[in-house]
Amino acid sequence: MNWQTEIRQTAYAALAQRDPGLSLLLGITASITLALCCYSYFLHPLANVPGPKLAAVSPLWMMRSLHGKHLNRDIKRLHDHYGEFLPLCASAGVVANRVVLGDIVRVGPNTVSFATTVALTAVHNAGSAGGSGKEAFTKKGTIEWLLVEPQAHEKLRKAVQPAFTIRELRKQEAIQQNWITAYHERLDFAAKEGAEINITEHISQLTWDMLTLQRTDRGHDFLSAIVGTERKGIHLTQDELQSNAAMLVMVGQDATVTCLSSTLYFLLRDPRQMARLRDELSAAFAREGDITGEAIARRPFLNGAISEAMRLISPANGTGMHRQSQGGYVEGVWVPTGVTMAVDQYTIQRSPKYWKHPEEYRPERWFDRGPGSDF
Ligand SMILES: *[C@@H]1O[C@H](CO)[C@@H](O)[C@H](O)[C@H]1NC(C)=O
Ligand SMILES: *[C@@H]1O[C@H](CO)[C@@H](O)[C@H](O)[C@H]1NC(C)=O
Repeated sequence: MNWQTEIRQTAYAALAQRDPGLSLLLGITASITLALCCYSYFLHPLANVPGPKLAAVSPLWMMRSLHGKHLNRDIKRLHDHYGEFLPLCASAGVVANRVVLGDIVRVGPNTVSFATTVALTAVHNAGSAGGSGKEAFTKKGTIEWLLVEPQAHEKLRKAVQPAFTIRELRKQEAIQQNWITAYHERLDFAAKEGAEINITEHISQLTWDMLTLQRTDRGHDFLSAIVGTERKGIHLTQDELQSNAAMLVMVGQDATVTCLSSTLYFLLRDPRQMARLRDELSAAFAREGDITGEAIARRPFLNGAISEAMRLISPANGTGMHRQSQGGYVEGVWVPTGVTMAVDQYTIQRSPKYWKHPEEYRPERWFDRGPGSDF
């Protein structure tokens, strides 16, 4: 008999005999839980922020959403829901005159979510909140903090930045074109075979190869740039080298794969938009060799198609971007010390307040804003 069964049976036995010790223990646990729930619901500084009751008293609401992998959609639904009920809860004390209900919701006992661009600036631009210049919303304890821990950050920036100058990026162009040509051949082959392929896997493989594989013409890629910092008098320890390289690959690869696969997803679902993209590209490029980074940066529809995919499916969707309040105002609302807060990109990027036809994939919204246009 394992220990779990044993405990369960003892508990049942005790319950059956109405063991006074156990009843007392259960009673105390229940009272403490109830007291904590009451505190969270009625007395907590966030008590007046609208949100589901379950989220106000326990982390269960967030856990359920996370588990079901629909946290983004759930948070957006809350912002929409409480926005609609504005007249009913307009008396909520914490909400100052500037903020509209629905712009802030409580998603956990100690966690709030904002959905305005003003909040985005206040929370993520250092020194802009509170006015005193101090960081009112620290990254401490967040993923971001791990990535850009202050002393390491300066060193990392010096090490990595040289690899991202236009000149360096141009040097990498030839390598990238080789990879892309090889990739094309693989796709052509699959197409001739009539095979079904998983494009996400293909893109993932391609970007991984481009970022990490050993090359014969070493020296013009991101990793060599980091490794080469020693020569420039920047000393990274072995650990720093490894974790920075790993971080760059992870962040770079993940974001690129998400961005490319979602762009393809939307284009494949919308033949009209795909045809517009094909027209733009075939008019601009006669040969594969003409397709350089600089040239594609000037193609409005292509860039619109990518931006629009990133708007709808953001590679950094807000998870892990939360901040810890040190006490500060956001949108005129006082956010007490210790409260975890997030500005929900997903909601903002699909909000009718900021976008026309927010749920539609419309690349032209990024460049066609003239008179007579929809945007
Ligand atoms: C948001 O990002 C996290 C981490 O990358 C991921 O697990 C989650 O599925 C994403 N959610 C949506 C709705 O894209
Ligand atoms: C395609 O590949 C991705 C990444 O490996 C995976 O998450 C997804 O489930 C795959 N899709 C299909 C239809 O197999």
